[in-house]
This record gives sequence, C-alpha cells and structure tokens, in this order.
Amino acid sequence: MFEESILVEKSLPLNGEVNLSGAKNAVLVIMTSLLLTSGKSILRNIPASEDVFCMIELLQKLGVEVNFDIINKTLYADTSHINNFKIDSTIMKRMRASVLALGPLLARFGYASLAMPGGCSIGTRPINFHLTNFKKMGVEFSQDGEYLVGKVNKLNAKKLILEYPSVGATENIVMAATLTMGKTTIINAALEPEVLDLIDILKKMGANISILAPATIEIEGVQTLSPVDHFVMCDRLEAGSLLLAAAISGGDIYIPNAQANYLDVFLLKLEDMGHTIITQENIPGIRLIATNKPQAVSFKTMPYPGFPTDLQAPMMAALALAEGVSEIEETVYENRFLHAAELNKMGANIQINGTKALVTGVKELNGMSVNATDIRASCALVIAGLVASGQTTIKNIHHFKRGYDELDKKLNSVGAKVTVNNYPSIPHVVSSYGQKEI
Ligand code: EPU
Repeated sequence: MFEESILVEKSLPLNGEVNLSGAKNAVLVIMTSLLLTSGKSILRNIPASEDVFCMIELLQKLGVEVNFDIINKTLYADTSHINNFKIDSTIMKRMRASVLALGPLLARFGYASLAMPGGCSIGTRPINFHLTNFKKMGVEFSQDGEYLVGKVNKLNAKKLILEYPSVGATENIVMAATLTMGKTTIINAALEPEVLDLIDILKKMGANISILAPATIEIEGVQTLSPVDHFVMCDRLEAGSLLLAAAISGGDIYIPNAQANYLDVFLLKLEDMGHTIITQENIPGIRLIATNKPQAVSFKTMPYPGFPTDLQAPMMAALALAEGVSEIEETVYENRFLHAAELNKMGANIQINGTKALVTGVKELNGMSVNATDIRASCALVIAGLVASGQTTIKNIHHFKRGYDELDKKLNSVGAKVTVNNYPSIPHVVSSYGQKEI
C-alpha cells in the first residue's frame, strides 16, 4: 500500500513574505462554543486542517448544520437543531479536543456523554481538572461502558481553583459558566491567546466575562447567548514554525499577520541565538533575519506567557545546529521528546534525561527516513529536513495534516522544496445545507 510521506529537500535560505492561517488551537474550541447558541453563526479564517474536519464531523453528529467554504476559509454553522449529546469514541480517539464539547452541552442541555480520551504519545493527558470542577458546579458523572455520562439540572456558579492553568479545563469551565446564573470565578486560569480569542467570541455572543489579575477569570452567567460572526486569530505556533524554518536555513522572512506579543519569550530566545527580530509596537508583523552563526540557548516550556510547549520540538531542530550546548526542559508534558530520537537519526546530538534534553550543536544533519510522532514533531522534522543533506522522508504524516493548513505550500512560497505525497486526503465534508462538497 502507498504510504503517505513528506519529502523535504535541502533548500537555499528561505526568503520572502508569508501569511498565517487561523489558529488550530483557537478554532477547535471556538467551534464547540457555538453549541452554546441557537442559530446561524459564521466563523472566518478557518484552517483546512484534519482536526477542523474532525470537529465538523463531531458537530454534525450532534445535529449542527455545517458548511465549510474551504476556498474562503469560512465556516457556516446552524445550531438550531441539536438533537444528540453523545460524542462517539471514534471521534474522541481521533482528536482529544472533542472534550471541549462537554462544557457547552452541559450548560445548554444539562446532559453530555463522551468516550473517555486515552493517553497519547506526548503524555497521559487526563481530564481530571475538567471533571472535578464540573462536579463542583453540580454535574453528576457516571460510567456507561466506555462512555462517561454527565447530567445536571442546573449548574451552580462557584469559585473554582485550578491547581494547574490547564488550557482545556479553563476553556470548558468558561464556556459552561457563561450560561450558569451567578458569578463563577476561575483562579489560576490559563490565559493563552487562544483562550482570549474564545473569551472574545463568547463576549460577542453576549457573555459577561472579565479577566482580573492574577490569572483570574470571572463569569457572570446570562440566560442565552446569540449566534455570531467571528474572525479567528492567526496561528502563533505556525508563525513560530515559519520563523524557525527561516532561521535554520539562514534566511530572511516576514510574516505580516503574526502578533509578536503572543510570542515574546520565544522571540527573545531567537534573539539570544543571534537572529535579528524586527517588530513594531502594536502593529502585527514579525521579520526574522537569520544569523549564520546560531548560538545555543536554554529554555523551559511553561504556560503562557512562557515558552510554548508547542514550539519546543521545532526549536530543538533549530538548536541541533547551533554552536554550544542547549538545555531544554519540558514542563507541560511528561513525554514530549519523541522527536529527539528522529533528529538523532539525522545526525543530531541530543541526550534525554527525564524531562530535560541536552542538545549539543553539530555541523550538519543528514537526510533520512524519519517518523513524525505528534503534530509538532512532524513540523520539527520538516524544519530539520530543510538543511539536511540530500532528501528527508517523513512518515506518519497524518499528524502534520491534523495541525497545519498547507504549511508545505507556505514554506515553498519562500523557497523551500517540501512535497506532501498523496495530499490532500482530508476527509470529505458533506455540507448539511444540501450543497455539494466543497
Ligand atoms: N492536565 C491534567 N489534567 C487535566 C488537564 C490537563 O493533568 O484535566 C495536564 C495535561 O496532561 C498536560 C498539562 O496539564 O500535561 C497541560 O494540559 P492543558 O489542559 O493545558 O492542554 P490541552 O488543553 O489539553 C492545549 C492544546 C495543546 C497545547 C496545550 C498547552 C488544544 C486543542 N490543544 O491542550 O496543543 O500543547 O494546550 O498549551 O488547544 C498541539 O497543538 O500540538 C497541542 C498539543
């Protein structure tokens, strides 16, 4: 059987201008937030990635009518006829973000059933923070085979304290609290830009939400929320990946729609490596001019505004060729270094010790056949392939297709040679409006 793969050829320095797609990690939760409303909403700047197609399928199975205009990156959803509250295990296994339907379904219908998500390659990823806090709000959970069933007559507003600022738990609770009468307070909330984009759309729907220092979100419940028209934020993780691709290749790249203030610590580390970063205050746009003598830097991944875990793997690829020894500590996931072994196959010198990685810079990388182990690992290997001698073949590319909308084409537009074989093979979307598939 033909195995899908990405072929990356050694490229010249990447030069030019490239624009970002909408943010995967904002759009998925924003799509589930529509379950809080009844009526027709429009979401713009939607990336055509496999996770988005999976979320469309999830919404359609609940009775939402969805039409995705891929050309214009616009998604139309009508939530007037939701008639199912069960998220089946096939969808849950394909995409853990399905758990983000729980809060909206409980808030609007008082009932939700979902298959329990298993662990994944980057860690065990439990959902205990979601469940504990929903229980505090009055939800009763029971197990029905592989399904978890949540029921509640009326959610109670509460003061909730997260022991860790989980992005998903914060999003799920905020969504549920918008339709919960009284004041819900979330202390130690995640405030990632994607969470703020969710809060933005919820406010447009009519929700009453305030952000207070330190890391606190206050939600005053309302009776109903209205459909909306929303432009999803651009993908800061795609921005980081493109900057790293230019950096490793010794190039000069400009991303007009990238928000520098979403990437402060990451940009600081690029500067510490010796690259020049040019931004303007309060105006989108990031330019990177690469140094030809990149230096080792050390960092640890942290919740926002720290160094994002989702850029750890691509950064490791760039540091594999930097002069000196870099120490990377992964604090968000317990097992997010699987890409190190693949980079080592290409000639990198990376030693893993628990949650720390020591990256000793080497002079060159060699093209090889390597395996993508998760979404961001796939991107790291593409970045490494840009400077590896000969050709790099990356297998297991469903991860790449889950997370990015034509990142290969964006790289090629600034001089790379990346070919995704058998692409695109995204699942068909049957428009619920009876139109032809787009
Ligand atoms: N955690 C728990 N219990 C919970 C929830 C989280 O122990 O109930 C742990 C997780 O196991 C993990 C840590 O807390 O070790 C952080 O998890 P978090 O809940 O913050 O992450 P998430 O909501 O599951 C989102 C992104 C991830 C991104 C993280 C951190 C989406 C769809 N996913 O996941 O994105 O890494 O936040 O920023 O928004 C990716 O895009 O490749 C990706 C994995």
